[in-house]
Amino acid sequence: MGHIQAVIFDLDGVITDTAEYHYLAWKKLADDLGIPMDRSFNERLKGVGRKESLEKILEHGNKQLSEQEKDFYATKKNEHYKTFIQDITPNDLLPGILEFMKEIKESGIQTALASASKNAKPVIRRLEVEQYLDTVVDAAQVENGKPDPEIFLKGADQLSVDPAYCVGVEDAQAGVQAIKAAGMYAVGIGSAKVLTQADWVVQKPTQLSWEELKRRLEM
Ligand code: G6P
Ligand code: MG
Repeated sequence: MGHIQAVIFDLDGVITDTAEYHYLAWKKLADDLGIPMDRSFNERLKGVGRKESLEKILEHGNKQLSEQEKDFYATKKNEHYKTFIQDITPNDLLPGILEFMKEIKESGIQTALASASKNAKPVIRRLEVEQYLDTVVDAAQVENGKPDPEIFLKGADQLSVDPAYCVGVEDAQAGVQAIKAAGMYAVGIGSAKVLTQADWVVQKPTQLSWEELKRRLEM
């Protein structure tokens, strides 16, 4: 595809391991509700917004709740999650990701964050990575969650880059789908068996390099 101009990063599970905290917080809630939940089911929640994730869990457990109860449980999950993220520091960056972000910036490529999380801003602040991100799009700025491409398209738009010249980096199935639907090159972090639509899958961010990405894009 050549001439890449921007790389758009997901946050949870890409820059830091908050995907694990989301899982633990949902698991705690599912236990309270008596709904079985494992890591394989959790793959369906990655990248998916708070309310929608709760809907998926309820559907999975064949449980119906009133709107008021749903609000109560969504808030409760977020309280669990917030206790996990309160002590985040730059030590919680996933190994290799900062080096990759620096390589990109040093090559004159723009960067954006595209996170469906309403907690994205405090997390990136605590990780001290704001200086490596030219723009941030979070849940508050989009109407449609991943797998809809809106959040990635908005990131490209805020950088004034054509989506065809963007790379998206994601750990979630819904996220990779969103990147592909936006017409971008998708880098997946995790299992190739799960992230089947990604153009390039690495198990961990330590395996990412700007050189290798350029090679794959045949720049
Ligand atoms: C990200 C995570 C999801 C999470 C969503 C909403 O996309 O991958 O696991 O459900 O954000 O996060 P929030 O912090 O707003 O509940
Ligand atoms: Mg993620």
